[in-house]
Amino acid sequence: MKPILLFPLLATASLIGASATSIVCKQCHPTIYGEYYDSAHRKASVFNDPVHSAWWKLMPKSKQGYTCAKCHSPSDKEALKKGVLTENGIQKEEPISCVYCHTIDYVQQNDTANINITTGKTREFFTAEASKKGSGIAHFQTHTSWFGLNRSVENSPYHKINYDNENYYNGNVCMGCHAQSDNGHGFDIVMLDALIDKKDKETCISCHMPQVPGTKVTLKETKTHAYHGIAGIHNMTEALGKYIDFNVSKRADGFDITIINHANHALFGQAYREGVLKVTLKRDGKETALPPAVFTRIFGKEGKETLPWEATQTLKDSLIYGKKRLHYPVRLQKGDTLTLVLGVRRVSQAGLKALHLQNHSELSRFKPLKYETYRF
Ligand code: HEC
Ligand code: HEC
Ligand code: HEC
Ligand code: HEC
Ligand code: HEC
Repeated sequence: MKPILLFPLLATASLIGASATSIVCKQCHPTIYGEYYDSAHRKASVFNDPVHSAWWKLMPKSKQGYTCAKCHSPSDKEALKKGVLTENGIQKEEPISCVYCHTIDYVQQNDTANINITTGKTREFFTAEASKKGSGIAHFQTHTSWFGLNRSVENSPYHKINYDNENYYNGNVCMGCHAQSDNGHGFDIVMLDALIDKKDKETCISCHMPQVPGTKVTLKETKTHAYHGIAGIHNMTEALGKYIDFNVSKRADGFDITIINHANHALFGQAYREGVLKVTLKRDGKETALPPAVFTRIFGKEGKETLPWEATQTLKDSLIYGKKRLHYPVRLQKGDTLTLVLGVRRVSQAGLKALHLQNHSELSRFKPLKYETYRF
């Protein structure tokens, strides 16, 4: 252990105060901080996310100002409380900070959008660790043995840890922002159809923050830590493919592909997201691409397609909920090979156009989630 290191660190911490706290965490949790820095959560603000920014700029504004702060930058108090948006350090470095997430006490259910109730404490954090559940609040402790020759430390010298909040075990901590969001016309645009059930084997956290190699803290060596880059479209996309299965079955007039979604929410639910299944048939050495299947939602008003913030209805919904069966009227022969690739585009081509993001074609790149090959 290196107790000497702690003193300059704590001094910096108090200098920075409540403004930029995540940088303090970096000193003892550098791997987690690095992942977080590259995550959709650190990039959720108008200043870091071109999609969010384009959408906010095009939207008609109300007196309430920037209402997106609740979920996109709750750590910026001015934005959260007054709807005032300024290009500041919090917007850029930690719109959803380490402290914010780790102090969500519980989530208040609400029709238009849920509300995160935080403790307001800056030095006491909730987390999940099955072996310590029910052990109360952990304080920093030092133990000396062998007449002071051996010194060992336990827990954090910077903060207390509370292992007892059930919401960090079942994934409910994510639901203040990820359950639903009303667009102001009684229409939900985030809709993932997410449901947390005690019977679920996996949770939001086990699927999107899996344990990956590397220590969670410098003062103590652990083999793994919870991935804070957040598996999704930005990072670790292919790792999520294991929660999706394909099933191919021959029919008299062709074949069926069934996509089975093991997540507890619909896939590709966000506005302008697009899932795509590409199917290639190889016969006698020749490859043919069959028409791709597209999974998306199209929003409307009075029967006509509209921008998401004006929508009052869904015109088309081809999302993958529990299972999705697709029929291909192509008869399979002995020796045929079928290749299936399911992937996602963060913004569809139509979305790029609607949001005036045509010069950001990288946002529309196809990111594979799952591959599979079948021989007949
Ligand atoms: C001086 C070093 C230090 C600083 C600074 C620090 N931590 Fe920690 N943190 C630790 C140590 C040590 C542990 C205990 C690990 C253990 O014993 O399991 C810990 C544990 C945690 C845990 C619980 C991990 C677990 O599974 O037990 C969380 C959550 C956490 N820290 C969050 C933060 C956040 C957020 C910040 C910034 C506001 C921060 N830490 C700043 C040293 C630090
Ligand atoms: C109740 C919480 C909540 C509120 C309020 C909210 N959002 Fe979101 N927003 C989310 C979540 C959660 C996601 C990520 C969903 C996903 O990836 O499926 C998201 C994603 C987005 C995206 C897609 C970003 C991308 O990378 O493709 C845009 C654009 C967006 N929001 C715009 C807005 C705007 C503009 C506002 C304010 C008018 C707003 N949101 C208010 C929760 C919210
Ligand atoms: C304070 C609100 C908030 C909380 C709490 C929150 N998120 Fe998010 N999350 C967001 C927003 C906003 C976005 C979209 C950011 C953007 O693209 O602009 C997002 C994006 C995501 C994405 C999409 C990432 C990608 O690359 O496609 C995943 C997955 C996700 N969050 C999972 C989680 C999980 C798991 C938890 C709980 C441990 C959680 N979130 C807690 C607000 C939140
Ligand atoms: C069994 C694993 C699993 C569980 C449990 C799970 N997810 Fe997912 N999640 C996935 C997969 C697979 C995808 C699709 C990958 C993608 O769109 O990038 C996904 C996608 C997402 C996305 C991005 C959607 C988009 O198109 O932008 C968000 C946000 C998200 N999940 C949040 C959550 C939240 C919140 C929970 C808890 C209620 C949760 N997930 C539970 C597997 C899971
Ligand atoms: C979106 C919410 C969210 C954000 C932002 C976030 N965390 Fe976490 N963090 C969690 C959750 C949920 C867990 C519990 C994961 C688990 O089940 O092991 C966790 C676990 C941890 C752990 C324990 C790791 C382990 O494997 O047990 C540490 C340490 C930690 N976080 C530190 C941080 C630091 C430092 C930051 C900022 C750089 C941060 N967190 C940002 C939600 C978040």
